[in-house]
Amino acid sequence: MIGSLGGVTDAQASAKPFYLSTPIYYVNDVPHIGHAYTTVAGDVLTRWHRQRGEAAWFLTGTDEHGEKVLRSAQANGVSPQEWADRLVEESWRPVWKSLDIANDDFIRTTEPRHIQRVQTFISRLHDLGDVYEGSYEGPYCVDCEEFKVPGELLDGEGEFAGALLCPIHHRPVEMLAEQNYFFRMSAFADRLLAHYEAHPEFVQPESARNEVLSFVRQGLQDLSISRSTFDWGIPIPWDSKHVLYVWVDALLNYITALGYGSDDPAEVATFEAVWPADVHLVGKDILRFHAVIWPAMLLAAGLPLPRTVFAHGWLLVGGEKMSKSKLTGIAPSQITDHFGSDAFRYYFLRAIQFGQDGSFSWEDMGARYTSELANGLGNLAARVTAMTERYFGGVLPAATDAGPAEQVVADVADRIVTAADAAVLALDFSTGLATIWELVGALNGYLSEQQPWKVAKAIDDDPAARARVATILYTAAEGLRVLAVVLNPVTPRAAANLWVALGAQPALGALAGQPLTEAGRWGQLPPGVTVTKGESLFPRLDDAEPA
Ligand code: ME8
Ligand code: MG
Repeated sequence: MIGSLGGVTDAQASAKPFYLSTPIYYVNDVPHIGHAYTTVAGDVLTRWHRQRGEAAWFLTGTDEHGEKVLRSAQANGVSPQEWADRLVEESWRPVWKSLDIANDDFIRTTEPRHIQRVQTFISRLHDLGDVYEGSYEGPYCVDCEEFKVPGELLDGEGEFAGALLCPIHHRPVEMLAEQNYFFRMSAFADRLLAHYEAHPEFVQPESARNEVLSFVRQGLQDLSISRSTFDWGIPIPWDSKHVLYVWVDALLNYITALGYGSDDPAEVATFEAVWPADVHLVGKDILRFHAVIWPAMLLAAGLPLPRTVFAHGWLLVGGEKMSKSKLTGIAPSQITDHFGSDAFRYYFLRAIQFGQDGSFSWEDMGARYTSELANGLGNLAARVTAMTERYFGGVLPAATDAGPAEQVVADVADRIVTAADAAVLALDFSTGLATIWELVGALNGYLSEQQPWKVAKAIDDDPAARARVATILYTAAEGLRVLAVVLNPVTPRAAANLWVALGAQPALGALAGQPLTEAGRWGQLPPGVTVTKGESLFPRLDDAEPA
């Protein structure tokens, strides 16, 4: 599927694509804004790399095996496969479509391609002697699908008095006693520590890196990697009474989707061209699986390790992690129906420092929508395009009278592109967006100072006034051109509308083909293009109330 990497040149196509994954989400329930937060961030970052002219590969999907999914299917009176099919088709794929997620593949762990390749992988570990038979006794959280260490559990109170609770889900753990297969993970602790030391970028941000370091420094236990008390999973190839532990099954999606273990040489070639991942984007709840278990599995199989595991923070409701199991989930559609998908994509990345927890509130969302999107960017675009229609019949005039004020705007544009690029490449989305909004602010300030609507009163009699208005409108339109390019990865609908409104399409070509790193070079929008007011980029929402 390398062919679908987009309009890249031959030289770029030969470079390894930027490969980013999201977690594959459990299909025990419908998506909420926590899942959408991760996937939107991943989409923005891969689109950003594409806008820079790089090839990129963006993977998401669903995690469909294990007890958690099995139990929700049973509770709904259908088979787990029917349940997964229904949720994927009716909820998960549609939510990504509604948020304009441009993933290159969507992997489901019940697909034959995944099952066969997982079996190939686990047989290899078995052949290498890193899997052995044993027995497991201890606590398990079905919500986490995780074997727990007794010391990390909480004492239950109230309805859970006497029980031990999962520290994430605050629900009782279950005690397991099963014959299992184990992965000799303890043997990899030293190699993992050496890798963390040699590659400080491997676990990010710093708080996540510290957590992983102190965890692995205590030494690693071997990991139980099969279950034998239910059968909703991938059969262990050499002992079909067992199914593979759901996390081992799920983590392997990152390589099975690319073609690892395929019989088809073309798919294996894709795997070799795209792996290793540049970024595994995850929430901090699943950091250890990605930064400890997954690299240990890869080391055991002799495969290269991903470059970075980035763990972002939690969206909180009432101070606690928003979750399906606690019924605090907000559906993304509640936000997109009211504010639109661009506003969703913008808001969470702008309002929350990526890597830290953040609380969602309708008030803050509404306030930022109004001040930053509707009044900030939307109104700017509306004013500039409307004045160009009014004073110049929609034909973009040349900036024949450019002076120091115009130079200031051009300098801001150049600076913010470089600074926003550096911030976004470091996954500091909120700084990146705040930086881009410096140009929005500079352009609005420039218009307030220059007051083209006042200068325009003399436009028919005074050629100097005409040149002045032309210069102001050209400068503002050229600034909007820069904004359209840098915002295309973030707010693709508004950016596309702006590109059309500026009349940029025939003259400069498609928006997707504008190299982001060149966007700050002033003067690209040619005078003479047709500017149209078009629809409002971010309509004002004074009447409608959030759902
Ligand atoms: O853990 N705030 O799936 P899952 C921010 N199937 N992000 C949140 C969030 C919140 N309140 N709630 C969920 C699984 N997320 C496994 C993953 S990967 C090989 C297998 C996001 O459905 C965040 O990315 O429980 C978190 O890590 C993920 O959803 C967990 O989704
Ligand atoms: Mg979860």
